[in-house]
Amino acid sequence: MSSERILILGANGQIGTVLTEALRNKFGNESVISTDLHPSKLTSGPHEILNVLDKSGLEAMVNKHRITQIYHLAAILSARGEQDPQNTWKINMEGLMNVLTVSVEQKISKLFYPSTIAIYGHSTPKQNTPQEASFIPATVYGISKIAGEHWCNYFYNRYKLDVRSLRYPGVISWQSDPGGGTTDYAVEIFHAALKEKKYCCFLEADTRLPMIHMDDCIRATLELMDAPAELIHIHTSYNLASMSFTPAEIAAEIKKHIPEFEISYKPDFRQAIAASWSESIDDSVARRDWNWRPKFDLASLTEDMLHNLKIKLNH
Ligand code: SER
Repeated sequence: MSSERILILGANGQIGTVLTEALRNKFGNESVISTDLHPSKLTSGPHEILNVLDKSGLEAMVNKHRITQIYHLAAILSARGEQDPQNTWKINMEGLMNVLTVSVEQKISKLFYPSTIAIYGHSTPKQNTPQEASFIPATVYGISKIAGEHWCNYFYNRYKLDVRSLRYPGVISWQSDPGGGTTDYAVEIFHAALKEKKYCCFLEADTRLPMIHMDDCIRATLELMDAPAELIHIHTSYNLASMSFTPAEIAAEIKKHIPEFEISYKPDFRQAIAASWSESIDDSVARRDWNWRPKFDLASLTEDMLHNLKIKLNH
């Protein structure tokens, strides 16, 4: 039995709900404490209400549960973030600063911080975006995440805090719903295909974005956190890639399973956000350092999403 005691912040989000279960399977139900602004979406395991802006509440939680590792998932994403830039900055940055300082003060052994494709901007090479390039993000979410990466790197260098991070592509899941992101269309489209046989997309047909299946996303997170510290050479955040596709391409793939499915397009403000991001990612540093390999491609993702979502929706 591992002696790790894990705290998850923002556990009710798209990634949080699935990661909480994965960590409970690995470390045991009672060793993984989920926290969120709201009551738990899961049926078992310890859960506490916690706001990441409440530093003393966070400190008390770490002490009470004798926490050794933190996964800090609480953030406002790209599309929702643009509705209130100052509040997005406050939640994303003050939240992270609280987590970093409490982690050092309470001698947390490992911290996970998610970054994103939203750190890339118009000046970043769009194809095979390298690990290091010009990053001038177009959204407040992207600005907060690139600043967050630099703060993580600073805390590693200055305080030897073992903080690890991935630049997640758009995450596609049947297990949980996304909220407030620009890549959310790629989950909505499966729900609409099964329920209505049609979908109106808020991005243009040929908008290519990097995406990943939730199972690969969770496995990447666990593998990064398990890797021996001496293999981790990136202390900002690792580029992470799996697949890239456009709305037209995923619609064509869905049509192979649901021939009557139809897609239409009505781009909104999220088109400009997507247009500022990369189309494909070079993740060779993650592959080299901790042996990252994605398992899903567009065909297997589509098959898996339709299969599992159908079962879920029928229950
Ligand atoms: N999925 C996120 C978003 O669309 C990107 O990190 O905002």
